[in-house]
Amino acid sequence: MIAWDSQLYLRYEQERTQPSVDLAWRIPLESPQQIIDLGCGPGNSTQVLRQRWPDAQLVGLDSSPAMIERAGQSSNDIEWRVGDIQSWSEPDRFDLIFANASLHWIADHETLTRRLIAMTKPAGVFAFQIPALYNQPASQAVNELAQSRRWQPYRLQERYTLRAHEPIRYYDWLAPISRDLQIWETVYFHEMENHQKIIEFYSSTGLKLYLEGLPSDELRDRFKSDLQESYRNLFPPQINGKVLFPFRRLFVVAAR
Ligand SMILES: C[S@@+](CC[C@H](N)C(=O)[O-])C[C@H]1O[C@@H](n2cnc3c(N)ncnc32)[C@H](O)[C@@H]1O
Repeated sequence: MIAWDSQLYLRYEQERTQPSVDLAWRIPLESPQQIIDLGCGPGNSTQVLRQRWPDAQLVGLDSSPAMIERAGQSSNDIEWRVGDIQSWSEPDRFDLIFANASLHWIADHETLTRRLIAMTKPAGVFAFQIPALYNQPASQAVNELAQSRRWQPYRLQERYTLRAHEPIRYYDWLAPISRDLQIWETVYFHEMENHQKIIEFYSSTGLKLYLEGLPSDELRDRFKSDLQESYRNLFPPQINGKVLFPFRRLFVVAAR
């Protein structure tokens, strides 16, 4: 499991939190009483839920003690728990099971997503958002680099265990057990000062998997510099010199 750095993660807090706002405001529940945020990280997505439903009882669960410690500093009217989504089980307690940017760290999405919707209270909602990795040039470039002649000997691609499937897959898995199902994608164009900033953005999440597979700082720096070169080709600077970093995300809201 990767070690999470809450400070580095929150350096792009606005960019990381906007998808949870967009997800929360599409959820068709007026006043859910019990909500859990699975993979709550430093609590930024949980605070979005607090703003949307000020009277709800909220639980934030994350497998990283560092993230939960940071979340605990943000609010004391939320129950913060260290725990693993894969073994978490509390059937019929929550009106809303919410997971923003966390389920792609877990394998077997058919079993996982069907299990999570079935875990909500009757008439409850299961909502999640994940990066659309099946159509994400920035992460595909990292995979290609890892398989290039220079980097192939380190077998970095074997460390890449993130999961995301096409929308049609989630539809087939969830439609038979959902009363209402909304699925959509959004591409966020993040304005970055330069290509180095894209690497910084990505370093606290998916890129970490590859960097941790390299034995020295020197090699990690070289890998990042090769990646920067490939990002320069993929995302040429705009007229004002800034770089637009496209990040596609998949959203699913399933009502039981
Ligand atoms: C990218 S962060 C998302 C944080 C927050 N939800 C947000 O919207 O920004 C992903 C979080 O998922 C957590 N996570 C990954 N796998 C997990 C698992 N199996 N069980 C619980 N949490 C997990 C990580 O520890 C990390 O804090």
